[in-house]
Amino acid sequence: MGTIDNRWRHGPTRRQALLALAGMLAGSPLLRAQRDPHPITGHKRVPGLDEMMTAFDFEPICFANVVLARYEYMARASESEFTLRRNREAFEWVDLVERPGAATAALQTSTEVLGIKMDFPIMIAPTAAQRDLHPDAESAMYQGASAAKTPMIVVGRSTIPIEKIAQAATGPRWSQFYPVQDLKISRETIETFQAAGARALVVTVDQQTDTGYERDLHNRNLGGTPRGASGGRGGGAPEQGRGGRGGGSAAPAPMQGPALYRVIPARLWYTWKYLDDIRAFTKIPILLKGILTAEDAKLCVERGFDGVIVSNHGGRSMDYGPSTLEVLPEIVDAVGGKIPVLIDGGFRRGSDIVKAMALGASAVCLGRAPRWGLGAFGPQGVQRLLEILQAEFLEAMARTGRTTLAALDRRAVRVNFT
Ligand SMILES: Cc1cc2nc3c(=O)[nH]c(=O)nc-3n(C[C@H](O)[C@H](O)[C@H](O)COP(=O)(O)O)c2cc1C
Repeated sequence: MGTIDNRWRHGPTRRQALLALAGMLAGSPLLRAQRDPHPITGHKRVPGLDEMMTAFDFEPICFANVVLARYEYMARASESEFTLRRNREAFEWVDLVERPGAATAALQTSTEVLGIKMDFPIMIAPTAAQRDLHPDAESAMYQGASAAKTPMIVVGRSTIPIEKIAQAATGPRWSQFYPVQDLKISRETIETFQAAGARALVVTVDQQTDTGYERDLHNRNLGGTPRGASGGRGGGAPEQGRGGRGGGSAAPAPMQGPALYRVIPARLWYTWKYLDDIRAFTKIPILLKGILTAEDAKLCVERGFDGVIVSNHGGRSMDYGPSTLEVLPEIVDAVGGKIPVLIDGGFRRGSDIVKAMALGASAVCLGRAPRWGLGAFGPQGVQRLLEILQAEFLEAMARTGRTTLAALDRRAVRVNFT
């Protein structure tokens, strides 16, 4: 019998050959790479935690999880939201100067601010109404922050009592405080924070007048907030002093009297004298949050405060003010290294944090970003978001060729503020 006959008799059938070929292809890494990693059968509308690549990825998931009115409460800012946008735009006006020579593994990013050691110069800013985002509210945020070794500033009017939050995790914690005119009440509140283990007190000095939040009006209050509650100026903002401790996200009363004109009588009396008075009985370091000028920063140093946070409340205080990044250099110069200068406002990327550090910040605080993490995936979301920013920070710092935070100076950036 000839060779061809033999092949016909003993070789694989056409069916077998096709099967063998299919088997080979199925095992091929090349083919695997072509497959959809999320086949239609396993498809979910919301991407998973492991798919988050940047801080921005968390926001739409948080948006999907949270009632519209509460999402808007977080996202919005004053009036035309010019300062909110400017906080972000300012990062585009500062270039990183790329230099060769640093591997991410060799970088030293740890620092110490007012006795708190941190692996990265990153902290969580105080923000109200965290129960809007997760049932365990500030406790969940604290767990996520501590898991990512990030110190947290707990908001004064937390939705969970401070004693309970303190038990949720072990990371370093500061407490934020809105002045209350009655010094006795202020003292009691500050003593509660101290007893619960706060290692510094952040006194917020901006938002003396109410802010006009126009989003609620523009979106016709869709999302369940009664019109009278948040339809007018400044409605629905527990951070603005109508909630009280534990007030959380309860719908506020309709605006009346001075509040109609955006005046919060409870705030208009702030004076340096009052701040001196609370300093006298506060046993932990005090930082003032909401400093935006060199003059006020100098006053903080002269009056013996322990630190400042350059902040415009994430654009939620006065509209048409500058971004915080723009005023940072003059404040750093005014303070002259005597006290730490922290900053917040629009930080969403590791490179944003590198820019602020190069301009002289001691550390950066994050407001909305970790809230997106919390609303999207709970404490694990906060942790992952922070770890993404830490990785980005390392990457951006390495590109500047600097291996230590001390070496990250103004020559690492090119500033194009006009
Ligand atoms: C929803 C929300 C609530 C806030 N509540 C407070 C507050 O109660 N006290 C305070 O000092 N700052 C508060 N802030 C301001 C933040 O501490 C921080 O200054 C600001 O969020 C930083 O800007 P960013 O959100 O762009 O990071 C709040 C901010 C947001 C977004």
